[in-house]
Amino acid sequence: MAAARHGAASSTDVRREAARRRAFAVISHPDAGKSTLTEAIALHANAISRAGAVHGKPGRRGVVSDWMELERTRGISISSAVLQFDYRDKVINLVDTPGHADFSEDTYRALSAVDCVVMLLDAARGLETQTLKLLDVCRDRNLPVITFINKWDRPGLDPLALCDELVQRINLRPMPLNWPVSRAGLFRGLLDCHDGTFVRYGRTAGGATAAPQERLDPRNAQAAAGEDWARAQDEVRLLAESGHTFDLETFLSGQASPLFFGAAVLNHGVRELLDFLVDLAPAPTPRSDTTGNQRELDTSFSAFVFKVQTGMNPAHRDQVAFARVCSGVFERGMVVTNAAAGRPFATKYVHQVFGQQRTTLDIAYPGDVIGLVNATTLSVGDTLYSGKPGVVFPRLPSFAPAHFAVARPADLSRVKQFHRGIAQLQAEGVVRVLRSERRNRGGAVVVAAVGMMQFDVAAYRMVSDYGSPIALDHLEYSVVRRLTDPRRRHLIDTGSRSEVLVRADGTELAVFTSRSDLAAVRRRHPDLELARLVAGV
Ligand code: G4P
Repeated sequence: MAAARHGAASSTDVRREAARRRAFAVISHPDAGKSTLTEAIALHANAISRAGAVHGKPGRRGVVSDWMELERTRGISISSAVLQFDYRDKVINLVDTPGHADFSEDTYRALSAVDCVVMLLDAARGLETQTLKLLDVCRDRNLPVITFINKWDRPGLDPLALCDELVQRINLRPMPLNWPVSRAGLFRGLLDCHDGTFVRYGRTAGGATAAPQERLDPRNAQAAAGEDWARAQDEVRLLAESGHTFDLETFLSGQASPLFFGAAVLNHGVRELLDFLVDLAPAPTPRSDTTGNQRELDTSFSAFVFKVQTGMNPAHRDQVAFARVCSGVFERGMVVTNAAAGRPFATKYVHQVFGQQRTTLDIAYPGDVIGLVNATTLSVGDTLYSGKPGVVFPRLPSFAPAHFAVARPADLSRVKQFHRGIAQLQAEGVVRVLRSERRNRGGAVVVAAVGMMQFDVAAYRMVSDYGSPIALDHLEYSVVRRLTDPRRRHLIDTGSRSEVLVRADGTELAVFTSRSDLAAVRRRHPDLELARLVAGV
């Protein structure tokens, strides 16, 4: 087969560039310090000069990936932003994920764009519910997991107990690459498990710049940290004897997790994490298409859209579709095909998005995330490609909605804007719009969400982006099944305790107020097929 050509780049260039890429995300429970760690990583990579600097705020408030006003006022991360920067000889794409449980669907999509994850734990709390949920998604996707235990500067759990928790609760073998020299709260530094040295950190004002560090050999470490050093050595030896030593293969297969300790707010332990990501985390690999074939990295350009977002730049309200490059070279200005529509799509405006800043992007390789500006025809899950052969990647899985509401324009003079806004929120996946024979009157639509907070975001965006306030009447439904035979919808669309709502793709959803209502319908019509909605369908 003739070597693929990508403009001026050869197959070898593409493979070499892909090998330089690292795409990862941080998963954690809210408040574990994800935004702080994200910023500390950007700081160490010199992508920002001071923590908090991007928003012109001193200290740690309003970090780089936290750009939406709503996010800032609520203090949580709602949307997935992408930070791209160079570190050493590598190009890092850090995909930010919302930590709040209500945004798990958004997180799931973000995780489809990365090649590994950092699982961030609070030293005092260990594994928490949202982390466990996100970890399930990572395992579903076979993503290798790196563990970072944060907030070691505060009182917390015993490090061996934390290791035990990983084994007992999630069957993940920790492989410590550094180990704390002290109990949590008395952070004296870290034992580097690779070379046995003691890494001591200095402090900087408010953690705004990278912390200075010095390395002591074991003899000097003993003199400097006495009992704490001896205990750290004993604990590491104990773990090594029971097989908790680093092994690349078990990390890449997701069975074991490299373990780091640190304090993101002080920038302690962050460089070690970043160096590991660059040295040993996986580079992009070929992705499977809908037929199960793998698209080799040096095939012509392909990418899939994992996020669509509007209003990123308050100065001009635009829509950005974030796509992860899977193969080939992306060059600004190239015309690509949107596989869903079968139509060409011109990519004149492409950006690298970094917090609120953007720079024009000219070229991207597998593993990179590109922001396509004004991509109004693109939706989450779309595949883009150029040249031959074409490709369609599997659509991203969607979660079963658990909340339903009727949305109506609260200001009847803004009905047009209402419909435009609702369609946009549907394209972005903020809420799902469903058709209902009963309820689509007077411009009303049914909206569905995985978490209640999605409705808050929708209401906020309708006002801020479209000037069309909405009234939301919550529906009592909480149980959803897929109706496989549409001719039998009359069996469900009966009263106030169940009805049929239709998704944009035509799928009929049978919704019930409770499990007992579902059970009652099943008893009355034992042959009626009601399938569970599984993520991935
Ligand atoms: P999230 O994105 O995971 O929700 O967490 P975020 O980074 O916002 O951090 C949550 C809180 O934990 C913040 O405190 C942050 O400063 C603190 N934090 C993060 N990393 C560390 C750490 O290594 N050590 C300590 N001691 N604290 C850490 P806050 O009180 O909510 O805000 P602030 O007043 O500190 O800005």
